[in-house]
Amino acid sequence: MPPRDQNSQEIIDFVLYILPVEERLEPSKILPHESIPVIDVSNWDDPKVKESICEAAGKWGFFQIINHGVPSEVLHAVKEAAHRFFGLPNEERNKFWAGNSPTDTVALKTSFAPHAEAVLEWRDFLSFRCGPHDLESFPSWPPVCRDEVVKYMESAKPVIRKLLEILLKEIKVTEIDKAREYELMTAPVVYFNYYPRCPNPDLTAGVLPHSDITSISLLLQDDNGGFYVRATDGESWIHVPPIDGALVINIGDVLQIMSNDRYKSIEHRVVANGSKDRVSVPIFVNPRPDAILGPLPEVLESGEQPLYKEVVYSDYFKYHLSKKHEGKKSMEFVRI
Ligand code: OGA
Ligand code: NI
Repeated sequence: MPPRDQNSQEIIDFVLYILPVEERLEPSKILPHESIPVIDVSNWDDPKVKESICEAAGKWGFFQIINHGVPSEVLHAVKEAAHRFFGLPNEERNKFWAGNSPTDTVALKTSFAPHAEAVLEWRDFLSFRCGPHDLESFPSWPPVCRDEVVKYMESAKPVIRKLLEILLKEIKVTEIDKAREYELMTAPVVYFNYYPRCPNPDLTAGVLPHSDITSISLLLQDDNGGFYVRATDGESWIHVPPIDGALVINIGDVLQIMSNDRYKSIEHRVVANGSKDRVSVPIFVNPRPDAILGPLPEVLESGEQPLYKEVVYSDYFKYHLSKKHEGKKSMEFVRI
């Protein structure tokens, strides 16, 4: 983010965030009466719950879940932890700057891919790799927030597994064995997204339209709002209102590919906020970098043609990170 102490420098820096008009969220494109489903998952085994999840994943690519079992204190604590980290003095916070961090499992970054972007996104973020061996570097994680991240990740694990079990069962994968875990969920990453109050929110973007390159993502929002998903017409946008205690779930590119388009990885974006600092805490559920992805044999069993070629996950995410956020462009990389 631009330094706040020098006026002329500040003006030059702000220019870096001004989007061309056509890339800003046009208010007439927002559908005020549409919403994504909200699913009560207090009984995961209820066939209606399973049906609602799979239906939402195929139609909207997005849904919110309530009564998921992650305690509200854990959710509250991790959002507070994000504010604490971004409230640190510059020299404390900057110790974790990517490339300079005491551990490669924690990295502070800004925008999305600044080397490839003509205009920056109004966001800083801190990422925590949370795979099995990543926690060995826990002692080097920022003390003001590390316990809360681990607790959040641990509490969310049963939810992740349940969601994936339900979604995969519907496409004839009856068991998530070690090999499937490797392809779906062994390398989760938690982000602290931080969107500082913006003096001119209409000129810029918090995050530009993109889809996630995950199997699924779980998003914890605060009560500021400003998160939009692409409507089923492919043109308009739908606001996802914050619901206290809820998690927003979305299908990522990996699961769209594996399900051969049964499930949809839908674009989403964040607008900047003119009055408050916003935080969000997503969990990106990812395959291992060397996992090979493609439409699942179970899906193609009945003779259906694969819509995607096989790709090593690390090649996919390197391609994704080589360019600015551009809607669903990454998927063209593997579409047949
Ligand atoms: C993301 C994302 C949404 C948000 O980080 O990929 O879509 O509300 N974030 O911060
Ligand atoms: Ni996203």
